[in-house]
Amino acid sequence: MNFVDIIIKKRDGKKLTKKEIAFFVNGVTDGSLPDYQISSLLMAILLNGMDAEETAHLTMEMAHSGDMFDLSSVEGFKVDKHSTGGVADTTTLILAPLVASVGVPVVKMSGRGLGFSGGTIDKLESIPGFRVDVTEEEALRFGRKSGIVLMSQTDDLTPADKKLYALRDVTGTVDSIPLIAASIMSKKIAAGADGIVLDVKCGSGAFMKDLESAEKLATTMADMGRHVGRKVTAVISGMDQPLGMYIGNSLEVMEAMEVLKGNVGGDLLEVSLILGANMLLLAGRVETEEEGKALLLEQIKNGKGLAKFRELLVQQGGNVHVIDNYDLLPLSPAKLEVKAEKDGYITHMDTARIGRASQETGAGRMFKGQPLDFGAGIVMKKRAGDAIATGETFAIVYSESEEKCRSAADILKKAITIEEKQAAKQPPLIWKIIRQED
Ligand code: URA
Repeated sequence: MNFVDIIIKKRDGKKLTKKEIAFFVNGVTDGSLPDYQISSLLMAILLNGMDAEETAHLTMEMAHSGDMFDLSSVEGFKVDKHSTGGVADTTTLILAPLVASVGVPVVKMSGRGLGFSGGTIDKLESIPGFRVDVTEEEALRFGRKSGIVLMSQTDDLTPADKKLYALRDVTGTVDSIPLIAASIMSKKIAAGADGIVLDVKCGSGAFMKDLESAEKLATTMADMGRHVGRKVTAVISGMDQPLGMYIGNSLEVMEAMEVLKGNVGGDLLEVSLILGANMLLLAGRVETEEEGKALLLEQIKNGKGLAKFRELLVQQGGNVHVIDNYDLLPLSPAKLEVKAEKDGYITHMDTARIGRASQETGAGRMFKGQPLDFGAGIVMKKRAGDAIATGETFAIVYSESEEKCRSAADILKKAITIEEKQAAKQPPLIWKIIRQED
């Protein structure tokens, strides 16, 4: 088979066969295809799409490109969760300890940042000593003992996705429904959980900008998971402003700990509770979403969620003292307050742009393998809809140099729309929840 023919076929908008897709995934996995040809096909897929059959073939080929994780030795119904990617989207660090603290095991493989969106693995690595490279044997042992494991994909799991994910990040080929669906579901299927809650982000800071495309991605992924016998719930949640107020790696760890301590509420807590409650629902631990939310909230109040987070840090070598002393987490030395240039209301936040500003600080990658500045990022001081006065600070930028702070601030200023009149309505936090029976 000649790979150029496959690229040309997709470039011309034609459907690829199972064999051609298998040839592609095998070539990615064994390294026989060069990056430029892989990237070229990725771009052709982004531009011309894939139908349901092609997407299913791509997903299953990718899922089987490496080992399949067998979680059967961890007792109970194992639940996983995956976000399609957003800004200040720190829910995993909150809901995983909360869900595990009520006895539902979470053995979760997470990813690194992708484009303007952050990644749990990068955030966890900002905790001094925390080890994300956990072996399969360790993951099972930890899962049996503590009921919580947050780890990066092992080398042997979906190696094709590892390669494709890193290439897509730097070739403008992230926001494609078939590529996102195959990337997420191949990993989730190979990672072995019994139930999966998908957090499909929708809005200006998501890869899916409108409800229609978010719904399409959600149903594509949910159908795929169910087809291979997994229970799947898809939550379509809003990403028209950063979910939390802290953007960046150590900054997001700090905010997650504040939520677990019960000091911070708002949208980040609400979405974490909803996703967590749906994980408990899939596991049969609760009967209703409301019951699940109340149970998880109780785990914040009684400190058991934070205790589980502490257990996770001890288990994976992270410095537990960060919990009580945030000074032990990295924070970049240069700091710049970004101020409003007129009076009015914040009517719109271009959240992907805010994510790009965060990349500019050094908190996200601009090229494959770029080392991150874990202490860089942005603290937002305002939410969409808030009133603001000239000279009032709406964000604080942290980076290694004043120059980087200034260029991030320039991007941030363009990301915020201030108008005299308040916008009629802000988009919803939860657009839709698609459950198995729906
Ligand atoms: N998250 C993933 O794991 N893959 C994507 O393609 C997008 C978000």
